[in-house]
Amino acid sequence: MTSQFPEARPRRLRRNASLRSLFQETEFSLNDLVLPIFVEEEIDDFVPIKSMPGVMRIPESKLAGEIERYARAGIKSVMTFGVSHHLDSNGSDTWNDNGLVSRMSRIAKDAVPEMIVMSDTCFCEYTDHGHCGVLHGHEVDNDQTLINLGKQAVAAARAGADVIAPSAAMDGQVQAIRRALDAAGFTQIPIMAYSTKFASALYGPFREAGGSALKGDRKSYQMNPMNRREAVRESLMDEQEGADAIMVKPAGAYLDIIRDIREVSRLPLSAYQVSGEYAMIKFGAQAGAIDEDRVVRESLGAIKRAGADLIFTYFAMDLALAGI
Ligand code: PBG
Ligand code: ZN
Repeated sequence: MTSQFPEARPRRLRRNASLRSLFQETEFSLNDLVLPIFVEEEIDDFVPIKSMPGVMRIPESKLAGEIERYARAGIKSVMTFGVSHHLDSNGSDTWNDNGLVSRMSRIAKDAVPEMIVMSDTCFCEYTDHGHCGVLHGHEVDNDQTLINLGKQAVAAARAGADVIAPSAAMDGQVQAIRRALDAAGFTQIPIMAYSTKFASALYGPFREAGGSALKGDRKSYQMNPMNRREAVRESLMDEQEGADAIMVKPAGAYLDIIRDIREVSRLPLSAYQVSGEYAMIKFGAQAGAIDEDRVVRESLGAIKRAGADLIFTYFAMDLALAGI
């Protein structure tokens, strides 16, 4: 006689907290998180970023102390972004051995040698027009920018950066950087490619954070958010070019893309929870609409569940201080 009641009852494994944690499929820890930071030269005090409550521009003179504080809290890795006072048409400060890109890595590694320092490798915070490369008329010159990316990557490696992370979205940037690093003797320095980078409105707060001079947009080099096949192709191309790890950016609205790429590549895959994702959670919580801590954990857990190994998130320090 068949009962009218179910035999299979998923609720059996949800009855209490111990059962639920025993059967939880996805977890993240500080080993998976990278904290992006903004460092400004020639200032004395921290500068709050209004569109990213809780995030500040760090004065270069206080960077060492901050890195030590992150390390004490358990942060394993940072990604450095410079807020430059030395802008020019091609961002040449980035390949100066005494420029801000180099100094950030040197200061961070001197402060805490075990801290993994990833050097964001781009030009938009160092050009007077705000684009991610050399401008010729209204076009960003791909191949001239490749040469400059190689120079910046070598300077960053010379300054002690552990990982080179090119975000300029130029065609062939991974290959160009790999060759430049190898030619300079940095065969052991890995490239974490921003391989699938969408031209997203969610980068809005970053523009304030980085003090970007950009007028217009980056749609001629970053990807159309509506393209799924091309998103996979971009990451596979970077793998072919020699990337050691690949990335999807932004993260939360692109979980399908993270999963697609996870299924076709064996490389470590990262995802970047960008400034606008951070801002939406912060302001939503400030308005009393959502519980910040729970939404942060749910959003990062979802990114891991989709297939990301590493997550770049501005919440990394909050989680570290909470003991994760
Ligand atoms: C610059 C860069 C951007 C971000 C990371 N690197 C901005 C952009 O491409 O416009 C965005 C990060 C964020 O929004 O948190 N190439
Ligand atoms: Zn850029």
